Amino acid sequence: MKSRLLFLGPPGAGKGTQAHLICKDSGLLHLSTGELLRDEVSAGTELGKEAELIMNKGELVSDLIVLSIVEKRLSKYDEGWLLDGFPRNLSQAKLLKDLLEKISQPIETVLLLNIDDQLLIKRMLSRGRKDDNEEVISNRLKIYRDQTSPLVDYYKNLGILQSVNGVGTVEDVNSRIKKVLN
Ligand code: AP5
Ligand code: MG
Repeated sequence: MKSRLLFLGPPGAGKGTQAHLICKDSGLLHLSTGELLRDEVSAGTELGKEAELIMNKGELVSDLIVLSIVEKRLSKYDEGWLLDGFPRNLSQAKLLKDLLEKISQPIETVLLLNIDDQLLIKRMLSRGRKDDNEEVISNRLKIYRDQTSPLVDYYKNLGILQSVNGVGTVEDVNSRIKKVLN
C-alpha cells in the first residue's frame, strides 16, 4: 500500500473518520492539523489560545503555526504518514513541498473525498463540535471553496490525485479508498 498520503476534501467529508481507519490498519502516522490544534486548545497553551479564536470563526490558522506543528512530527517519522486537513491553501502546499523535498519523502497519493454541501452540513450539525454550527460551517465551506479547492488542480497537475465518492456508509467509503490505495 502507498505510505505517504494526503486526504483532501471539504469539512465534514469524512477525512478524519477514514484516515483513522486506514492508519489503524496500516500503522501509518495520522497527522490531523485540526486534531493537533484542538489538543493545543485543550492543553491551554499560548498557541492553543491563539488558534481557538480563529477556529471558532472557521478561519484558517496561520501557515507558519500549522507548518511548525507538522514539521516537528513528520521529520521524526519515516515509516509513512497520512496528512489530514493539511495543506489547506496553495501557500501551505508549497511549504509542504519544500519540507518533503528536504526530507526526501514525496507524497505518493492525494485522495479527494467528494460529497455535496447538503450532506456535509447534515453530518457536521449532528456531530456538534464547537465549530459545528450553521454560521461557522458556512464560513468553513466558503474558505474551502476559496482557498483549499485550488489544491485539487494543483495535485491533479502533479499526476497524484485520486477521487473517491464520499457518500455512503463509513464501510462503503473505506472499501473504495482501500481499492484506490492498494
Ligand atoms: P479540521 O479539524 O481539519 O476540520 P475540517 O476540515 O473542517 O473537517 P472536519 O474535521 O470537520 O471533517 P472531516 O472531513 O475530518 O470529517 P469527519 O471524519 O470528522 O479543522 C478545524 C479548524 O482547524 C479549521 O477550521 C481551521 O481553523 C483549523 N485548521 C486545521 N487545519 C488547518 C490548516 N492546515 N491550516 C490552517 N488552519 C487549520 O466526519 C464528519 C462527521 O460525519 C463525523 O461526525 C463523522 O462521524 C460523520 N461521518 C463520517 N463519515 C460518515 C459516513 N460515511 N456516513 C455518515 N456519517 C459519517
Ligand atoms: Mg477532521
